[in-house]
Amino acid sequence: MNNKVLRLVRPNILNLTPYSTARDEYKGPLGIFLDANENPYPDADGGGFNRYPDPAQREVKALLSEIKGVAADRIFVGNGSDEAIDLAFRVFCEPRTDNAIAIAPSYGMYRVAAAINDVEMREVRLGADFSLDSGAIMAATDEHTRLLFLCSPNNPSGNLFPRGQIAALIDGFPGMVILDEAYTDFAPEGSSFLGDLDRYPNLVVLQTLSKAWGMAGLRLGLGFGAREVIDIFSRVKYPYNVSAAVQGIVAERLRESARVAAQTAEIVSERARVMAALEASPAIATVFPSDANFVLVRTTGNPREMYDKLIAQGIIVRDRSRIPGCEGTLRITVGTPAENDKLLETI
Ligand SMILES: Cc1ncc(COP(=O)(O)O)c(C=O)c1O
Repeated sequence: MNNKVLRLVRPNILNLTPYSTARDEYKGPLGIFLDANENPYPDADGGGFNRYPDPAQREVKALLSEIKGVAADRIFVGNGSDEAIDLAFRVFCEPRTDNAIAIAPSYGMYRVAAAINDVEMREVRLGADFSLDSGAIMAATDEHTRLLFLCSPNNPSGNLFPRGQIAALIDGFPGMVILDEAYTDFAPEGSSFLGDLDRYPNLVVLQTLSKAWGMAGLRLGLGFGAREVIDIFSRVKYPYNVSAAVQGIVAERLRESARVAAQTAEIVSERARVMAALEASPAIATVFPSDANFVLVRTTGNPREMYDKLIAQGIIVRDRSRIPGCEGTLRITVGTPAENDKLLETI
């Protein structure tokens, strides 16, 4: 394994003997399975749920490999991106000793996962225009820094960070960079770092089926990285972390990429329409640039008043005005054309 990465893994994790499931020990053809203490009677609807699911999620990973152009053994599949975020702490950070860095404002789970794992989180503020301050990030590192969380396009600001700036950070950062690309499907082609994994052994790219793929309720998060890193994540995860029901439905839906592409294109075009209309509204002071499926706006008046008025019309947006750096803002997800019409009319 790449030495730089190897040195970052906690020794207890590096030395871990993972749980070995019955399906890890026998991978041959179908037979009479008397090895996993399962109930032998199939359920009435033929779902096969009397059997444990595939712990390696091979069918889902094979489909993802084709769609994403990444080898299956470089893909981690978990119970939402949140599982991969938590695993990053468990694999790389010694509680009460190591620290992690995240940009702020950004997705709130990085901080929560750090707190749960008893790892110090150092937050580096973005500029007033939500630009990335690479110097401040590097200045926040010390010999115990293990992780950097970048989110691009960033939630809640919506902006994509410049590729060159992200690349330079991955190159210079002394630990692992976890690049959260949850919203990448709504961003211009070529902005993802998925094609650059070979160049950066200290990079883990996170994506999710919760956004463009429309499967938030199924809970499927993806991690892409060096083979060795993905192997360690797989050894540390719960053996059966994705249920058979979810694996089955996801495998079906991953075959519907044409429908997903059409929906994504419509959301992106609706985003432009919504942003232009909001720009023209006297109730909105600023519309921040967005490469995601949501738009952050700063209201002219009190954001809470607008929030309440929208609720009164049955429209629920996210009040982000109490987050430092987001004062006066609301975050609005792009909906269907009819939903967007109602939003714009109301505002
Ligand atoms: C940046 C970012 N990452 C991850 C997630 C969560 O993804 P998942 O549903 O896969 O846990 C979200 C959800 O809002 C998000 O905004």
